Amino acid sequence: MSKLQAVRGMNDILPDEAERWEAFETVVRDWLRAYGYRPIRMPLLEHTPLFKRAIGEVTDIVEKEMYSFEDALNGENLTLRPEGTASCVRAITEHNLLYDSPRKLWYMGPMFRHERPQKGRYRQFHQVGVEALGYAGPDIDAELIIMCQRLWDDLDLMGIKLEINSLGSPEERLRHRAELISYFEAHETALDEDARRRLHSNPLRILDTKNPAMQTLVEAAPKLSDYLGSESTDHFAAIQERLLAANIPFRINPRLVRGLDYYNLTVFEWVTDQLGAQGTVCAGGRYDGLIAQLGGKPAPAAGFAMGVERLMSLWNTVQADALIERPEAYVVHSGAGAEAAAFRLAEQLRDAGFATLMHCGGGSFKSQMKRADASGADVALILGEDEVRADEVTFKPLRGGEQVRVSRGEVAQQLAMLLLGGGDADDEEETAFTLQ
Ligand code: HAM
Repeated sequence: MSKLQAVRGMNDILPDEAERWEAFETVVRDWLRAYGYRPIRMPLLEHTPLFKRAIGEVTDIVEKEMYSFEDALNGENLTLRPEGTASCVRAITEHNLLYDSPRKLWYMGPMFRHERPQKGRYRQFHQVGVEALGYAGPDIDAELIIMCQRLWDDLDLMGIKLEINSLGSPEERLRHRAELISYFEAHETALDEDARRRLHSNPLRILDTKNPAMQTLVEAAPKLSDYLGSESTDHFAAIQERLLAANIPFRINPRLVRGLDYYNLTVFEWVTDQLGAQGTVCAGGRYDGLIAQLGGKPAPAAGFAMGVERLMSLWNTVQADALIERPEAYVVHSGAGAEAAAFRLAEQLRDAGFATLMHCGGGSFKSQMKRADASGADVALILGEDEVRADEVTFKPLRGGEQVRVSRGEVAQQLAMLLLGGGDADDEEETAFTLQ
């Protein structure tokens, strides 16, 4: 029979890699806690209109990248979430979470976009999303950016550069949009097919074109920054001031427009040149209109999301591996009565708080010892017929140290001493690790 394969662009994350992901998630959780963000978990499936309304009808995501289908059982139009902001706003609105105070929330999980897969771009990918809901001032925009820098530092990631821009208010964008349309209409013959299609629906996205033939035209197009009023420019200036004070270098990129329609004022992206074409590792901005647009009581908000796969390929595997916790003990057993004694010993060690791997599947003493070593455990605890009869255990350190034979009741204490780097526990006072 032919072998079954995963869906294209959707990857298995195998154990070595999954352990690194867990190590990454631990760093991320600590970092988020340090900034007062609390977790929220939303469903992977939402009603399709949520994303159409939030992200915008004329965006790549909604036009061609969503996994949408009709529920065969009740005819509902559903979509696998392509991003988390829309779901998060739907959830806080549905549960009225902003009724008494602003909220700082984060989520982590898979997102789905039917893009052309390549390195760093997948159809199922993972984001860590951070949303500050109910905050209007530039202080939170700045803090969102500053906290990203801290994470890059915590992970020891170098060369991630910040680009920022201001999209102004919806009114300012409308005025700019009208000018942009007139400008592009005057140069219609120079537009490619994509641009012509977007001319009246989403002319701002034309500025984002990758087509080299259109670069000069786009460079000379009316700039949104010339249409921003004082409130928008002040907000933008206030963020820059705070970034300078925090020693975070940035580049203002007037062409940074983002691929989702809900943004206003601040937008930003963190970009690296170490990942080829898919260099944006984190992106976000302010979305003051979205909550009202999704039926909630109007409230300002800002946030960002980072691509976990992209960050993982930047993160040094040696650093990641150093954070992975291995089992402490591996119980090896052979001979009559040894398996039952091994089960008992393993449970007792777990009671005492040690991660313990019990050898399962039989095999010679030698092959069991090989497994013990490969498991990364600190010690092999050997139970043969001899040991079982004497109610003892052979304690064999696997990363240096003398093999000793100890009574079963002393194993935990001996292990605690080994992990503390103390070696033999004989001279030490009795500790809480004595097994019963
Ligand atoms: P986004 O720019 O669409 O924004 O995605 C954020 C990040 O997710 C990207 O910078 C990238 O690192 C990662 N990403 C996106 N698509 C893929 C893909 N196909 N494969 C791998 N990684 C990908 C948002 O999703 C907004 N919800 C961010 C936000 C939160 N804005 C405010 N709050």
